[in-house]
Amino acid sequence: MRFDVLSLFPEMFEGPMTASMMWKAKDRGLLDLHLHDIRDWAHDKHRKVDDTPYGGGGGMVMRVDVLHAAATAVQAMDVPAPVIYMSPTGRVLSHQVAAELAQHPRLILLCGHYEGIDERCRDLFITDEISIGDYVLTGGELAAMVVMDAVLRHVPGLLGSEGAHERDSHANGLLEGAHFTRPAVYEGLGVPSVLQDGNHAQMMKWRRQESLRRTWRHRPDLLLVAPLTEDDRYFLAHLADEDARRM
Ligand code: 6GU
Repeated sequence: MRFDVLSLFPEMFEGPMTASMMWKAKDRGLLDLHLHDIRDWAHDKHRKVDDTPYGGGGGMVMRVDVLHAAATAVQAMDVPAPVIYMSPTGRVLSHQVAAELAQHPRLILLCGHYEGIDERCRDLFITDEISIGDYVLTGGELAAMVVMDAVLRHVPGLLGSEGAHERDSHANGLLEGAHFTRPAVYEGLGVPSVLQDGNHAQMMKWRRQESLRRTWRHRPDLLLVAPLTEDDRYFLAHLADEDARRM
């Protein structure tokens, strides 16, 4: 998958994108990352990319002419791709949004700075706008890295076992449950026997319940929309009773 990133600070990507999963993705030819410095499309000798806002109010706004030239030039470098503006005013990234973005062979990510971009960019060339959550970052760069990581997990061949992302937290609308590895006892803490007994059906049932338990504790909002079975609802009712008795 090809990513083109438009940024004022392309050097921010160099460390993170050469480590771990991102490195593996590049090494296996699953990630083709192209970083572009927006200043390369500035018109003047000071390489100015921003200006004061009409109507005042302070802060600086990124110029439509520079961004349009940059996006048009980068778009023409390969197959047509969505141009995604990284912004806290975008639709919020989720497992489903990442899976949807992974269907494209190429994405162009535009990282803003200052107070934002000239609104006309949205009319001219931006096709999508993504936020990574309800808080504000100084620039879109860290968010672009988050999007690339989350999207690449959906590209076949990246994760060790095929379809591992289908077991991820959020894939089925719930959080993932507990994991254990050796040693079998550590500081007096053991490993649940159901994971060692070899009864697959019992183990699957336990995993489902741990997943429901964690979701109930940390993200009860997810339970309102997750697809649940009769057994799930029975177990959740029992958790709720347990909590009620503790109070
Ligand atoms: Cl995509 N950009 C910025 N600047 N802040 C954010 C964000 C993006 N998502 C959440 N906060």
